[in-house]
Amino acid sequence: METVVSGIRSTGNLHLGNYFGAVKNFIKMQKEHNCFFFIADMHALTTHPKPGDFKNGVRSVMIEYLACGLDPEISTLFVQSDVPQIPELYLLFNMYAYVGELERCASFKEKIRKHPDNVNAGLLTYPVLMAADIIIHRATKVPVGKDQEQHLEMARNFVNRFNHLYGNDYFPEPTAFNFGEALVKVPGLDGTGKMGKSEGEGNAVFLNDAPEVIRKKVMRAVTDSGPSAANQPKTEPVQNLFSLMNLVSKKDTIQSFEDAWNNCTIRYGDMKKQLAEDIVTFVAPIQERMKEIASDEKYLKNTIEMGGEKARISAAKTLKDVREIIGFLNA
Ligand code: TYM
Repeated sequence: METVVSGIRSTGNLHLGNYFGAVKNFIKMQKEHNCFFFIADMHALTTHPKPGDFKNGVRSVMIEYLACGLDPEISTLFVQSDVPQIPELYLLFNMYAYVGELERCASFKEKIRKHPDNVNAGLLTYPVLMAADIIIHRATKVPVGKDQEQHLEMARNFVNRFNHLYGNDYFPEPTAFNFGEALVKVPGLDGTGKMGKSEGEGNAVFLNDAPEVIRKKVMRAVTDSGPSAANQPKTEPVQNLFSLMNLVSKKDTIQSFEDAWNNCTIRYGDMKKQLAEDIVTFVAPIQERMKEIASDEKYLKNTIEMGGEKARISAAKTLKDVREIIGFLNA
């Protein structure tokens, strides 16, 4: 049995990228491993949310976790800020992270490019907080999407540096995990790149989008002018539609559009209509459960409290060991 840790920022509702890149694997792993799944609310502070929106964000991610099928009785579901040992470990690990490597991190460079007016130190040390999240439970497996790969590599560097400095092997190396397969990158609807909350209006389909919103977004997805010869390679926007179909549609549906592409009879309007309906069908049961869970405040409150308690117990043990290894007077 491995120890598994993963989390999602509480910056809004979950989209299909979060689901297929991460949550789907959380569900698959929870029965067989010792799992800690959390809501990264401290990471979400880098964008300075208003307190009301911030609270709602945490609550809605918890509702979505539960609605997707995470079971708080078998895995530990918690909110990052309920575990004070995480920021303490983060402070300590800032001593083993070098400014140069943090500055070279691709996600930091992207943030600078997109938001030059808000290059805060929390963004620079984001990978250190993420490492602390993982190693506070001494996790070995971290189910994440492709975009988190570099952060995991950095976490391994910090861990190895710590182990080397103190001459032990206290922390195992955490690795990004997808059942031996390549990490997932779910594309967005705008023709290029990944699905993401901050990638522009209409690029992401959220698990709580109403059917008419899903239809509208998908019908507006970028395509091209169509194939001009049989069996030609697909352009990126069209490949993206097929990739999304691969996640939510039946095999024979996908095959019929593949055939239509290959013999140049494809009609993107038909394909988008089908894709939209398959997404609507996919999210419908999740949305049903979201409604039920959202109406049960007591259950939500108890779940969050129980998860926080379990996470603090595991975290306190690690932190005590770390304080001893470092040589604090009172570990
Ligand atoms: P976040 O909140 O951006 O995304 C949460 C998870 O969803 C995955 N994901 C995707 N996967 C495939 N295709 C996409 N288009 C897509 N968009 C998002 C992400 O890879 C991620 O697994 N830093 C993390 C949160 C975090 C964390 C951690 C994760 C904080 N501490 C410790 C694991 C362990 C983040 O911002 O993810």
